[in-house]
Amino acid sequence: MKYLTSFLLLLTSIFLQAQTPVYLDPTKDIETRVEDALKRMTLAEKIDVIHAQSKFSSAGVKRLGMPDFWTDDGPHGVRPDVLWDEWEQAGQTNDSCVAFPALTCLAASWNPEAARAYGHALGEEALYRGKGMILGPGVNIYRTPLGGRNFEYMGEDPYLTSRMVVPYVQGLQSCGVASCVKHYCLNNDEEYRHQVNVIISDRALHEIYLPGFEAAVKEGKAWGVMGAYNLYKDEHNCHNQYTLNKILKKDWGFDGVLVSDWGGVHDFDQAVKNGLDMEFGTWTDGLTMGATNAYDQYFLSKRYQKAIVEGRYTTKELDEKVRRVLRLFFRTTMNKQRPYGFLCSESHYEVAQKVAAEGIVLLKNDGNVLPIKPEGKKILVVGENAIKMMTVGGGSSSLKAQHEISPLQGLQMRLKGICDVEYARGYVGDVSGNYNGVTTGQDLKDDRAPEVLIAEAVEKAKTADYVIIFGGLNKSDYQDCEGHDRKTMDLPYNQDKLITALAAVNKQTVYVNISGNAVCMPWRKQVPAIVQGWFLGSEAGIGLADMLLGKTNPSGHLPFTWYENLNQVGAHSFGESAFPGIWREGKKIIDEEYKEGIYVGYRWTDKQKLKPTFAFGHGLSYTTFKVSNLKVLSPVTTDGNMTFTVDVTNTGSVEGSDVVQLYITDQKCSVDRPVKELKAFQKVNLKPGETKTITLKTDKRALSFWDEASDGWKAEPGEFIAWAGDSSDRLPCKVKFTLK
Ligand code: BGC
Repeated sequence: MKYLTSFLLLLTSIFLQAQTPVYLDPTKDIETRVEDALKRMTLAEKIDVIHAQSKFSSAGVKRLGMPDFWTDDGPHGVRPDVLWDEWEQAGQTNDSCVAFPALTCLAASWNPEAARAYGHALGEEALYRGKGMILGPGVNIYRTPLGGRNFEYMGEDPYLTSRMVVPYVQGLQSCGVASCVKHYCLNNDEEYRHQVNVIISDRALHEIYLPGFEAAVKEGKAWGVMGAYNLYKDEHNCHNQYTLNKILKKDWGFDGVLVSDWGGVHDFDQAVKNGLDMEFGTWTDGLTMGATNAYDQYFLSKRYQKAIVEGRYTTKELDEKVRRVLRLFFRTTMNKQRPYGFLCSESHYEVAQKVAAEGIVLLKNDGNVLPIKPEGKKILVVGENAIKMMTVGGGSSSLKAQHEISPLQGLQMRLKGICDVEYARGYVGDVSGNYNGVTTGQDLKDDRAPEVLIAEAVEKAKTADYVIIFGGLNKSDYQDCEGHDRKTMDLPYNQDKLITALAAVNKQTVYVNISGNAVCMPWRKQVPAIVQGWFLGSEAGIGLADMLLGKTNPSGHLPFTWYENLNQVGAHSFGESAFPGIWREGKKIIDEEYKEGIYVGYRWTDKQKLKPTFAFGHGLSYTTFKVSNLKVLSPVTTDGNMTFTVDVTNTGSVEGSDVVQLYITDQKCSVDRPVKELKAFQKVNLKPGETKTITLKTDKRALSFWDEASDGWKAEPGEFIAWAGDSSDRLPCKVKFTLK
């Protein structure tokens, strides 16, 4: 009997195993599962999975048990749900999220582990909300301070961007949620994003604009990449032979899905052949063209199916697209090992706070005005940005945050019972507070004339011990917002006048700039303390109050050059043809030639010997640091791999973190090279008086330039210099080495 039972059990298990199709068997490798699933799919099912079926979803394969696939923005939190085919809110009550600091702030932390925590927390929120893919992070390079979406990106330097994007992608994907790194590529301004055809040297493309994407794909193993709206070599980047088929898929070996930006597909044959895998957003504005069969009208929908049936295309390209989509399914929605999701958890708020604390940049602090010593003092807070919610607006990154603590609220919370906090409006900017049907609920209306607002603030400032102005930009059109670029680099809404007037009557004036972009600061010599406060999300007020009061010690460093004005910007030094471009006849395409080439950001100001307001990599602390004793382990290298050591000492009286930065200069080369380029960095925490010796490693790529002749990286033998310090304009250490 005993033997019979065992025998029957064995038979049942063999039978069940035989019943489990290969594609559902998690013990099989993913490629085997993909091929098995592909074989089982009909033509119609294959077509269904490669295009959208609603604003943010595409179909799964019902018959085979594969769920629909849901994407969502990205990149600073999980966007609230919109209707099936409308941009209006679905009206869910369970889609409020934690708003994390904008990616410029994350980059300013110079802390890759903070990026990992950020990605992971976001992944958990996405999982809870049932999303298989987050449309982010954005790694387009900050080419001009007018760029409307710079706040969603990671600054001007390809190396810093690369180091920060990899852990973000890994953290996110460790939750079984795909990242969709965007916008690939050359989407560096917004105004004419659908019409711009970028003309650029191969060298600038590879050295400046691609490394962030390359690192995300090769090291981060990103499962998704989003094609950009603009054109390159006269083809839209959502179906571009050169950027997609050649560079992304062939050269970098990308095995994930190339998702179109929403409405970024324009050409049928190219959509089939040039590397596009999933089409989203075409012809569905949800209003005029969002007919019930809108999704059938997609390029990669019925029309493609018909063309295959009629023999105009084989299934070669289709199967390749579907393989990639299936891989995506097995990595995400069909992955039984996925962890649990969490929404609005304490740990997520902690991450938001930590990133804010590490990313806020203390730009100037004459006479140690900061940190504020509040006991028994009167503090005057001024400015619309002290009270305005910033998580709503800005375009697709707009969120419905569970809460958002404003700077004024943050200070009031932290100073309750300690000192008086007064408020004056100072200026009125944009009082509207809604995006796609999410409203802030704030009534910011104030009809008083600008002079009246300034006079009121000045009167109050005269008797205050400290004046803290929260100004800058906001998420409205033509500011830090998708769809347009800023029209000037100046501060809007009369703020220059306000700041000058306040600084004239109060010597303890602190200006906190809220933005994702540099702004002109003509008054900067009169204002003793200046802080870059970014868009900090849910915990904005806490992050800023803690920094201003010295509860946290600032350790953010600028991820971009803070120019004096547009005359210092490479992109703006060659006239219209370099920005915003010149329209071709018929006004369908605008050619924008990146004439500054590889000289973007500090590479440009270095070359032109310009002194920006604040340099790339700059950031102060409440303590002081000394970077010294840079050594190279073997001063002669043949393989290009280098190891450096450098000491960093906290020479002040409080604990703090410094960002040690290593730049490399190629002394002699057959091509023109930048004065120096960032090639390694490390953030280090030190107690007062403490010294740490840190090790920085670089590889051959750090010595190389993109050689257009051989279409590859090349390091020429010769002498190099490595510099170390804690800002691109403060590099006290130098050491020479030779590549043989
Ligand atoms: C933006 C993308 C975004 C998509 C979906 C597009 O307009 O460029 O970044 O992910 O919309 O909202």
